[in-house]
Amino acid sequence: MSNRQPIGVFDSGIGGLTVLKELLGRLPDESFVYFGDTARVPYGTKSAEAVKRFTRESVTLLLDRGVKMVVIACNTASSEVLPEFEGEFPVPIVGVIEPGVRAAVAATKRRRIGVIGTPGTIRSGAYQSKIMARLPDAVVIPQACPLFVPLVEEGWIDTPVTRLVAREYLRVYENAGIDALVLGCTHYPLLKPVIADTVGEGVELVDSAIETAREVARVLAERGLAGSGGGGEFHIVLSDTAPSFGDIATRFLGRRVPDIELVSVV
Ligand code: DGL
Repeated sequence: MSNRQPIGVFDSGIGGLTVLKELLGRLPDESFVYFGDTARVPYGTKSAEAVKRFTRESVTLLLDRGVKMVVIACNTASSEVLPEFEGEFPVPIVGVIEPGVRAAVAATKRRRIGVIGTPGTIRSGAYQSKIMARLPDAVVIPQACPLFVPLVEEGWIDTPVTRLVAREYLRVYENAGIDALVLGCTHYPLLKPVIADTVGEGVELVDSAIETAREVARVLAERGLAGSGGGGEFHIVLSDTAPSFGDIATRFLGRRVPDIELVSVV
């Protein structure tokens, strides 16, 4: 394994570009190959079996590209496949749940934490059980928010409809006394202003993308895999594309997206 090999980043679609953005900012000496399974997105409403199969195939695709580590940027995939996948592959696999949990535990003082995510992430109970393992007396209130993903993909980041949907989903946190809310989905960081306004002051929004980038840096250093210069490049591979891809991807990544490569996954 050479330090010059790229890091693989995987997501069910293009939402994981929010994680790639943090990785590029934090690890300027690294290069990245991003695979988004856009032909089969969304994972959040699919069965655990389907998510496991798709994720295994996607990790294998990245390994075939010679990556030295895989970051599973998708919350749904991370919660359905880890820790089962640990040890199955010859490279370190880093998910987004553990870093998000760590950040939530650091953020809460009252030990009352909200977790929002796709139906798959919430159903898996991954965030809930990992938070309880660290803070056994915590109160964790989970809420699936399935409509947030299509709203973000449609570019409806801050519209009256988005605010209405947010009010409906987040009503569960009214008077619940939470002081931390985990944004347990790749798409939700884009909705931060709307979510913050809806839950009100005094609730810290926990973005697992930032904490995941820290975790990747830590694992690279621990395993002696950190790159030393010549990084900053990224290559995007997708299993399908749509005419609006460029605009949406630019919104997620915060910069123009270079040419993409299309592969077939079925
Ligand atoms: N990437 C997914 C996640 O973070 C959201 C999109 C999907 O449902 O596949 O859970």
